[in-house]
Amino acid sequence: MLSIEELRIRASLKALDYLVSLCRDGCILGLGTGSTVRFFINTLLDKGYSYILKKSIVIVSSIDTALYLLNMGIENIESGLPRDSIDLYIDSADEVDYRRYMIKGGGGAMLREKILTMLSHRKIFIVDENKLSPTIGTKKPVPIEIEPFSYPLIKKYLNDKGYKYEIRYAKNRYGPELTDNGNMIIDVYTGPLNNPRDFITEIELIPGVVTTGIFEPLNNSIIIVGKQNTIEVI
Ligand code: 5RP
Repeated sequence: MLSIEELRIRASLKALDYLVSLCRDGCILGLGTGSTVRFFINTLLDKGYSYILKKSIVIVSSIDTALYLLNMGIENIESGLPRDSIDLYIDSADEVDYRRYMIKGGGGAMLREKILTMLSHRKIFIVDENKLSPTIGTKKPVPIEIEPFSYPLIKKYLNDKGYKYEIRYAKNRYGPELTDNGNMIIDVYTGPLNNPRDFITEIELIPGVVTTGIFEPLNNSIIIVGKQNTIEVI
């Protein structure tokens, strides 16, 4: 039985094949945030492909990924305003379904990730099979990034509508976790979302909501699922 880590590495190897074929001579490459992206970076370095990163312009979705790459000796990173045309974007997700809806934002970087995916020609998301569900919202709450001043308004709205939710607190200090954009995150327990667009529309109408962690199916995108007996591409 493969561990979650091994499943993610298995899917990372498949993503690496795509990277090598699309970006062998360097490209404008976007990278997301989180443990899977780190596994991907490690796999890439272990397999001797650090030259691809060094030949590329690497655009990251968070300071966290920028620091990780820097610590690995990769210095050609752009963490400011992104290019308006990215060749390939590689990331993970917290929950995905076969319609290719995703919940992201477990690492709090979904705003920049949404922007980077929309600027990217091709997108690859790497997950292990535990993140696959029949309908997003079944396993994970939906993170909502909010401007802190709007919290009382959003709280009132969620309470009135009967949603269960939690403020995401910082791990090793007091106060809410703040995103790289200086915003707060509220995790909303929606349950299975048959019509994710309805929830997006409802929530994004509240002033102060910056974005939700729901990613709608994207053109030119694949989700690579590392499974016990195979690798599935959705
Ligand atoms: C960060 C994200 C991540 O892709 C998502 O949280 C998955 O993280 P991990 O690979 O650590 O499970 O959306 O905002």
